[in-house]
Amino acid sequence: MSTDASPRTPRYTVAITGASGALYAVRTVAAMLDQGCDLDLVVSDYGRRLLVDELGREASIERLMSYLEGKYGAGVRRGRCEVISNRDLGATIASGSRPTRGMVIVPCSMKSLAGVANGLSRNLVERAADVMLKERKPLVLVPRETPMSLPQLRNMVQCAEAGAVVLPAMPGFYHLPQTLDDLADFLAGKILAALGLEQRLCADWTGRVDR
Ligand SMILES: Cc1cc2nc3c(=O)[nH]c(=O)nc-3n(C[C@H](O)[C@H](O)[C@H](O)COP(=O)(O)O)c2cc1C
Repeated sequence: MSTDASPRTPRYTVAITGASGALYAVRTVAAMLDQGCDLDLVVSDYGRRLLVDELGREASIERLMSYLEGKYGAGVRRGRCEVISNRDLGATIASGSRPTRGMVIVPCSMKSLAGVANGLSRNLVERAADVMLKERKPLVLVPRETPMSLPQLRNMVQCAEAGAVVLPAMPGFYHLPQTLDDLADFLAGKILAALGLEQRLCADWTGRVDR
């Protein structure tokens, strides 16, 4: 875990909050690291819990790099990942001066969504997202909840109006997924594309379902 990187290294912020779908988060982080990205990673308390609850202790934040390498291969070592405390509102990414290209919150809880929608900046996840909006940089939100209340739907509209991309955790099925990893690949591919990164995780639609 290190901070220095060449100015040309693509630097992004990834936040993991306490919604279901930890597999989407680890797939996204692994794919970005594989492309040599420099990641500032912030995980809320419930995000930490969901990583362990859904993926096991080996996916805890302290062991995340080894977990990613074991699951997705040594390519993840091409990138760098620094974990920053969600309580550190004085961290680099709390400022617009940080040369960050964009941010994704994956998965994004309804609580964090509400915080971003209303510019609350109660913690580093919300503050870093607020910085993306004020600096007019890409902010991708991956909400997961069902069904949704009117306030939750309104919060999504508010985020979209402020410039965020709302990319719900809704993988498609037209690529005939066989495994949970296929579903995670689909969603992570969409996230990378929304951040302006190259992605080979989900194939372009060819006009027909290939069996
Ligand atoms: C096992 C578990 C699953 C949860 N799943 C969701 C979910 O899918 N969506 C959601 O918005 N909140 C979910 N929650 C509730 C959030 O974790 C909770 O609102 C938390 O305060 C969110 O805080 P955070 O955004 O700071 O992580 C879940 C909580 C637990 C313990």
